[in-house]
Amino acid sequence: MTIYNFGSINVDHVYRVPHLPVAGETLTATSLTSGLGGKGANQSVAARRMGSEVVHIGMVGPDGAGRDALERFGVNVRFTGTDGSVTGHANIYVDDAGENQIVVMPGANHQQSLTLLKTALLEASEGDLFLLQNEANLTADAARLAREAGCFLIYSAAPFKAEKAEAMLPLVDLLVVNQIEADQIAGHLGVSIEEMDVPNILITRGAKGAEWRGTERYEQPAFPVDPVDTTGAGDCFIGAVASGLDQDLTIADALRLGAAASAIQVTRPGTADAIPTRAEVDAFLSGS
Ligand code: RIB
Ligand code: NA
Repeated sequence: MTIYNFGSINVDHVYRVPHLPVAGETLTATSLTSGLGGKGANQSVAARRMGSEVVHIGMVGPDGAGRDALERFGVNVRFTGTDGSVTGHANIYVDDAGENQIVVMPGANHQQSLTLLKTALLEASEGDLFLLQNEANLTADAARLAREAGCFLIYSAAPFKAEKAEAMLPLVDLLVVNQIEADQIAGHLGVSIEEMDVPNILITRGAKGAEWRGTERYEQPAFPVDPVDTTGAGDCFIGAVASGLDQDLTIADALRLGAAASAIQVTRPGTADAIPTRAEVDAFLSGS
């Protein structure tokens, strides 16, 4: 099977800082590293590294920056286009505790092409997984097209926007949210999380693990590690879980794969570059 991802691509600039800046403060960073990022791209890289075929539908600027990086990870970028605006980029501050603060400039991520998507979906088969997040535009239109093509839709409601989430809920098979986002969506809709009308919900709780609620419930604890940079760990988790499902693992085993991949990811600096290979994840799991 193939995983399709209609998602953002950024170049991340990660600054190590002693603490996160407060208003009016000028801080001196101790290091700067640049690499591939963006919630969509991180998910694609994770799914690819766990062993899935991944087609990324996205948009970058004329320099092609993030697209070339995605291709080096083995992601199919035939349906990632270029646009006259800049490649999306993110300035990320990471403090000594591994906490972060992110400012994203969407650039080309807000110029997504439904024409490219339609062409990509001509090759899709019934049951292929389709990933979406909130960092690209045209998300709801893309979701409708993917449904028509018979895909299973996995939607991560990050970065959170209540109106976007509300429009997406009727279209998705699996909603992935952290606890704060889950409460925000439920609050926005005036219902409890249990009453939200979506077949499956995966709630991520960082160091406290994750919970899948559908016709069955699964709890996956997080593996205890010492984080150095948690940026992109949620994206890594989602991409790895999707890959597990794509490779016909049980939901419980897919969650375990995701938890292990993201546990390793947070022990390394950076976002996409910090995502482990499948061999590294398997070695981690056999030792845990
Ligand atoms: O979720 C992490 C990602 O958020 C980073 O890679 C950055 O690009 C922002 O989009
Ligand atoms: Na990391």
